[in-house]
Amino acid sequence: MIKVAVAGAAGRMGATVCEAVEGAPDMELTGRADPALGTELAEVLPDADVVVDFTRPDTALPNALACVEAGVHVVIGTTGFDVEPLRAARGANVFIAPNFAIGAVLMMRFAAEASRHMAKAEIVELHHDRKLDAPSGTAARTAQLMAEARGGDAPLPTIHSVRLPGLVAHQEVILGDLGQTLTIRHDSIDRVSFMPGVLLAVRRVGELTESPLVGLEHLL
Ligand SMILES: NC(=O)c1ccc[n+]([C@@H]2O[C@H](COP(=O)([O-])OP(=O)(O)OC[C@H]3O[C@@H](n4cnc5c(N)ncnc54)[C@H](O)[C@@H]3O)[C@@H](O)[C@H]2O)c1
Repeated sequence: MIKVAVAGAAGRMGATVCEAVEGAPDMELTGRADPALGTELAEVLPDADVVVDFTRPDTALPNALACVEAGVHVVIGTTGFDVEPLRAARGANVFIAPNFAIGAVLMMRFAAEASRHMAKAEIVELHHDRKLDAPSGTAARTAQLMAEARGGDAPLPTIHSVRLPGLVAHQEVILGDLGQTLTIRHDSIDRVSFMPGVLLAVRRVGELTESPLVGLEHLL
C-alpha cells in the first residue's frame, strides 16, 4: 500500500484527490493537510510515502521543499509557481504536471504538432473565477511546447485568459494560416478528469530517474 497525504485537502482539487485515493485499492490516505482543517503539512509527513499538493502558487514550493527534506516524494498539481529551486532539492522525487487530464495532454501534443505546419497561433484558456493564477499553467506549458516544436527562437503564442463562474478548466488553441483556421479544444467539465493522472503519478513518483520531472506525458 502506498501511504498518501494530501496538501490542500479541503480545497476543490484536494478533496477530489482524497476521494480518489480512498477509492484506490493500492493506496491508503494517511493525512489531510490544510489550514482550513487545522492540520499543518509537517504533521502528516511522518506517515506518508507520497504527498499530493493542490494548494496555492505561494505555498507549493515551500511545501515541496519540506516534503523532499523529509524524504517524502511529492506530486504537485498546483500551478503558477517557479519550479527552478526544486532542481537542487535532493532526498526524494518531485513530479509536477500543470494538467493531469489525458485529454489536455493530447491537446498539448496535437497543438505542438500543428504549430509546425501553420503560420500563427493564439491560445484562449478559460477557468472558474476563483483561480488565482493567470495565464494557466496548462496554457503556459502549451505555449512552450508549441514554440519548442517550431524550433529556433520561435515566439510564444499569445495567451488570453477568461475567468467566469460556471467554468471548470477549458482551453482552445487556434491556429491560422492562408484562408483557414484550425481549432483544438479541450474541456475538463468535472475535476474527476484529473484523477487517473494523479493516481498514476502517485504510483510512479518513487521510481523516477529524473527529478523534478514536469509533464504527465512522461508517464504515459
Ligand atoms: N494540475 C492540474 O491538473 C490542476 C487541475 C486543477 C487545478 N489545479 C491547480 O491546483 C491548485 C488548487 O486549486 P483548487 O481549485 O483546488 O484551489 P482551492 O482554493 O479550492 O484549494 C486550495 C487549498 O489549499 C489550502 N492551502 C493553502 N495553503 C496551504 C498550505 N500551506 N498547506 C496545505 N494546504 C494549504 C487552502 O486552504 C485550500 O483549501 C491551483 O493552483 C490550481 O491551478 C491544477
